[in-house]
Amino acid sequence: AVLVARRASARARWRRAVALLREFEEGCATPTARLRQVVDAMVVEMHAGLASDGGSKLKMLLTYVDALPNGNEEGIYYAIDLGGTSFRVLRVEVGMGSVISQKVEDHTIPEEFMGSSEDLFNLVALALKNIVEREDGKDEKRALGFTFSFPVRQNSVSSGSLIRWTKGFSVGDTVGKDVAQCLNDALAMCGLNVRVTALVNDTVGTLALGHYYDEDTVAAVIIGAGTNACYIERTDAIIKCQGLLTNSGGMVVNMEWGNFWSSHLPRTSYDISLDDETQNRNDQGFEKMISGIYLGEIVRLVLHRIAEESDVFGDAADSLSTPFILSTPFLAAIREDDSPDLSEVRRILQEHLKIPSAPLKTRRLVVKICDIVTRRAARLSAAGIVGILKKLGRDGSSGPASSSGRTRDQPKKTVVAIEGSLYQDYPVFREYLDEALAEILGEEVAQTVTLRVTEDGSGSGAALLAAVNSSNRQRQQG
Ligand code: GLC
Repeated sequence: AVLVARRASARARWRRAVALLREFEEGCATPTARLRQVVDAMVVEMHAGLASDGGSKLKMLLTYVDALPNGNEEGIYYAIDLGGTSFRVLRVEVGMGSVISQKVEDHTIPEEFMGSSEDLFNLVALALKNIVEREDGKDEKRALGFTFSFPVRQNSVSSGSLIRWTKGFSVGDTVGKDVAQCLNDALAMCGLNVRVTALVNDTVGTLALGHYYDEDTVAAVIIGAGTNACYIERTDAIIKCQGLLTNSGGMVVNMEWGNFWSSHLPRTSYDISLDDETQNRNDQGFEKMISGIYLGEIVRLVLHRIAEESDVFGDAADSLSTPFILSTPFLAAIREDDSPDLSEVRRILQEHLKIPSAPLKTRRLVVKICDIVTRRAARLSAAGIVGILKKLGRDGSSGPASSSGRTRDQPKKTVVAIEGSLYQDYPVFREYLDEALAEILGEEVAQTVTLRVTEDGSGSGAALLAAVNSSNRQRQQG
């Protein structure tokens, strides 16, 4: 009788686990109709953000980038790419329409340099000094592209102040400071003859490199640790900056879409718990559903609740109460495990989460949760991309109707440059994103849209923009 009762209660607990899973799945649902609502909300917020500062959670920041590299750039340029706890230094040689050579060095930022912006920028300047002295000699005058992947209010293409930190990264006293100036000061202190001629977001660097190789590139998206997008907007549509004149009639706008919010987004109680754990509560809501720093943590929160309310993980699920213990690469490895007995899932649970003996059906449940989180993130990213296409009239839904009022203009070929570990290193994510794009746009229009992965675009694109901007300057001065 004891055995029968035990079995019955085990069954009840398993049912509880499954019920929690189902509830989560429903909460995360993104049927096409809902994605279309997200697309429309994105377009509305884009208009609002372009109309006035503070008009929307979508900041739609001006970049002052009005000319993109076109292949005429020549020479040697440097770039710094800083977007979190590590940074890269690049030396890029360009000519005859292509990148002739490129050297990249990776550096991590030790804790002790995150205390003040002076420490941070001195560290970066020293790293640059090493490579410049080695490659070109100390006195060489060079233009520098500075990729700084946080929201910046720009005053020109080569200056701008940090609005706030995102992605859980922060350094003491930098908010409000002109980050290009900070870097220039540190460079001068080091005795280097190198100055920032382009201060750009990583999305803008990616767009620049994408455009360098294909002039149909009109937007760029990053889906990595954080997520964001930029695109080329007509200056007359940037209402908040009236009288803005550029030679090209357009300007790249950094959307900071990580901060997009809409009541149509499928938000669960776990998203609320995640938000409560972060430094930037109530901000970066879209990013918190999509990007690498957060996805693993959403899975962890779901597993934790299931562990508490059922015993499917046995007694040994303590590690599940540690925030951020499950990083997104683990989530991807779990979801990508296609072995019949889910041996990789078992290994990760054992070695990483110290859950020694989860039976196969429990491992399947873990895979399913990783799948739900991945799928929602990828599909929402697709909706964001279609939002941009729609704003640009390239989603196949606009364009002047013909005299019969029925047929529409053939949509133009559109290229979106894309970078970031989720899209590049996680095939299931990519499949879900591509599938959702086709679903929202319809196969025919989807065929006119290419997502093109650029490599190191955020850094080398910035070097190219440094080139564009230093030659523009010379031309203006000369
Ligand atoms: C965060 C930053 C944004 C950046 C993105 C991708 O959302 O705020 O500026 O582009 O991460 O790195």
